[in-house]
Amino acid sequence: MSLDRSALPSESRSVLELALSLAYGAGAIQRERYETNFSVTTKGTTIDLVTEVDHACEALIVGEIERQRPDDAILAEEGGGLDREGTRWRWIIDPLDGTTNYAHGFPRFCVSIGVELEGEREVAVVYDPLLDEAFHAVRGHGAWLGSRRLEVSPEPDLGNALIATGFAYDVRKSRDDNVAEFARMLKGARGLRRDGSAALDLSYVASGRLDAYWEQKLSPWDVAAGILLVQEAGGRVTDMQGGPAPSSGRQIVASNAALHDEILRRLDR
Ligand code: IPD
Ligand code: CA
Ligand code: CA
Repeated sequence: MSLDRSALPSESRSVLELALSLAYGAGAIQRERYETNFSVTTKGTTIDLVTEVDHACEALIVGEIERQRPDDAILAEEGGGLDREGTRWRWIIDPLDGTTNYAHGFPRFCVSIGVELEGEREVAVVYDPLLDEAFHAVRGHGAWLGSRRLEVSPEPDLGNALIATGFAYDVRKSRDDNVAEFARMLKGARGLRRDGSAALDLSYVASGRLDAYWEQKLSPWDVAAGILLVQEAGGRVTDMQGGPAPSSGRQIVASNAALHDEILRRLDR
């Protein structure tokens, strides 16, 4: 079985199909240029990188949305597209999530595309081009990886759980650096990972490969697709106090639901 596209509202179906084809297109660029010579520059801080490939992927995705759906708003990490009020559809794009990994030839990165319909998360696509895995979801129709309907893990015990997190690019300067939280979680979980792609971390919670994930100071494009994937897979997504997860990405705790309260207690925020 796979996601029954004939059961989707026709607009959502065409948005999903466009999002998948754009993710495959950008993913192909990432695959082709992986471990080749591309320029790398820095953004806000000296450890916040951007490569030529981030820009090439964003240009492809944004250009095609503008051509095919000129009425939609677009929020894209590298500044392409026009984000504006009053549109029904809004695309939130991370053209290459995991840029540090990509720049180092560490094989863990993806394309993330989340699409809102009248302010609600409606369509999600996260594509890992090296593994050729396209995680996708439509609100109310489940989260999917190929023909597999995704479900979060059933694990109720933190001692048996594999958890992931990440650190913001201001980690060298900020006192709110996630280090104390990292240490506390390390002492309780079976394993703790920092793999460098928030969108894949969230996709892995949705697919049960990870039992939970948390991070702070992300941006909307890091979480737009991943939150819907986790929710459609039966998981829980909140901020660090257990309230609704902000779309800004400022704080996120995503889990299989069974572990959620224990994770919040450990984070102790
Ligand atoms: C980053 C990755 C990383 C997370 C950072 C993000 P980028 O996104 O998702 O895992 O820890 O906070 O900014 O810069 O590679 O798109
Ligand atoms: Ca990102
Ligand atoms: Ca990015």
